[in-house]
Amino acid sequence: MKKILDSITEKVSEAFVACGYEDKYGRVSISNRPDLCEYQCNGAMAAAKVYKKAPIVIANEVTEKLSKDSIFEQITAVMPGFINIKISTDFLSDRMNQMAGEERLGCELSREPKTIMVDYGGANVAKPLHVGHLRSAIIGESVKRILRFFGNQVIGDVHLGDWGMPMGLVIEGLRERKPDLPYFDEGFEGEYPEEAAFTISELEEIYPAASARSKEDEEFKERAHVATLKLQNKEPAYYELWKHILQVSKTDLKKNYDNLNVQFDLWKGESDAQPYMADMVQDLIDRKIAYESQGAIVIDVAEEGDLKEIPPCLIQKSDGAALYATSDLATLVEREKLYHPDRYIYFTDKRQEMYFTQIFRAAKKAGIVKEDCDTRFIGFGTMNGKDGKPFKTRDGGVMRLETLVKEINDAVYNRIMENRTVSEEEAERTASIVGLAALKYGDLSNQASKDYIFDIDRFTSFEGNTGPYILYTIVRIKSILAKYAELGKDENKADVIYPAENESEKSLMLALANLQEVLEAAYRDIAPHKICQYIYELADKFNGFYHETKIIAEEDAMRQAGYIALLQLTKRTLETCIELLGFEAPDRM
Ligand code: ARG
Repeated sequence: MKKILDSITEKVSEAFVACGYEDKYGRVSISNRPDLCEYQCNGAMAAAKVYKKAPIVIANEVTEKLSKDSIFEQITAVMPGFINIKISTDFLSDRMNQMAGEERLGCELSREPKTIMVDYGGANVAKPLHVGHLRSAIIGESVKRILRFFGNQVIGDVHLGDWGMPMGLVIEGLRERKPDLPYFDEGFEGEYPEEAAFTISELEEIYPAASARSKEDEEFKERAHVATLKLQNKEPAYYELWKHILQVSKTDLKKNYDNLNVQFDLWKGESDAQPYMADMVQDLIDRKIAYESQGAIVIDVAEEGDLKEIPPCLIQKSDGAALYATSDLATLVEREKLYHPDRYIYFTDKRQEMYFTQIFRAAKKAGIVKEDCDTRFIGFGTMNGKDGKPFKTRDGGVMRLETLVKEINDAVYNRIMENRTVSEEEAERTASIVGLAALKYGDLSNQASKDYIFDIDRFTSFEGNTGPYILYTIVRIKSILAKYAELGKDENKADVIYPAENESEKSLMLALANLQEVLEAAYRDIAPHKICQYIYELADKFNGFYHETKIIAEEDAMRQAGYIALLQLTKRTLETCIELLGFEAPDRM
């Protein structure tokens, strides 16, 4: 259905034309003076310059034309030439009915749906998932859902880091701990074990230890380097061992991402690009896109007009080893071959921005992706602790995601137990649903590129601009609807009249009427925070209405039906939005 601003704009533009002015002056926006009006049009000011008249004269002519139109409750010209608008409750009520009648609440699908590859998550195998990867998962998941909501074919790929030096470090670390494993026996000729000979907890200890050691022990580092090269050459012992590392690690990662309600369509990684690398590098050299520089192979990507220096993209080290960039370019080769995306969006922290500028330019220069392909990098800021520094554990280490999630859930659990009478079991289940919302909303409500402070107390509060507040609002609606159903009344009447007898009710409807506009903006600008901002306002409007209105005690059945319909629409709108953000509401809390 048409967005409300478009419907009003259409009316006002028609009036401008009828008065002899161009239609473009009729653009209407949401009022920035909600105390005076709901919508406004400032076109008379611009028209005045062209038509050489006083703006107020034009504004008066236009409002005159519109004063009898039933969609307006009030339309007035005020000095110096603003047109202030209040729309009629009949018009709003119609809109509510229309929205309620549509499965997508009146949001239109994209007219040109695209195939979009979303590269997010980006966990590294054998390293515990930590908060650094949290933002990529949360933001990427939400954006994926938004793109999909508008009808695009979206492919989400976790793109695991599973092929670089960390793999060599884990292999050497394992050798130290378990030298008797057959992988380390050079003369071994039997079958390698079917089951992994280590657990995820062992792996998680091995990597940090090996990584720390490689910083002090050159010999160890060299061994890890050799192990990496051997793996990359697919030597059977190392390759088999690596497969087990991958399998154990992936199982654990899946569990973690599941807990975050993050689902990938593809579980590919850097290693999947490996089969394309050698040919790709050779081809780039043959076509003179890449060239040798001090033994390494590079692609120049600087362009005229660059405001800062963009160094060449390094695609092979002088010892022949592949790099992060090699796998990313080869990944594009594979993605083009298998999925032909029209568009790419990558999510990592913003420190990789320069790197992705190099990658996208190199890929276009090499013809791996088309010149006009929309390749987008979304870099996000850091999650900081209350001290304003990157978030750490109390003893200064990197916090594991599981620990973080548990801390949030515990905080929510305590709040629920403080004043509720639900069973401990239910409180626990609810706490994990609400905890996830607290975590995700705390992140998504900030513009992605900004740093933010991770504040458990604030994020888990049931009041204010928080996930739990939004859920609390939904739960409140659910409970009223349940009471209404208990009265044995039919809650699904078609075409009710939304009464709008008081300001709070109209405000709520006006907020609901904004949904289509907001979701389109979040989609267009890849900006989930716009949805957060919207639902916070909407929840506030709802609660304002709720506090002023006796819903269950209302005696006039018609009016009550209107209230109930409004509740249902608010609930659906909020639920649609949180689904796009990647979390859900419990039934009680
Ligand atoms: N594994 C990488 C990291 O931890 C993120 C991967 C991002 N995606 C990509 N195609 N490079 O930094």
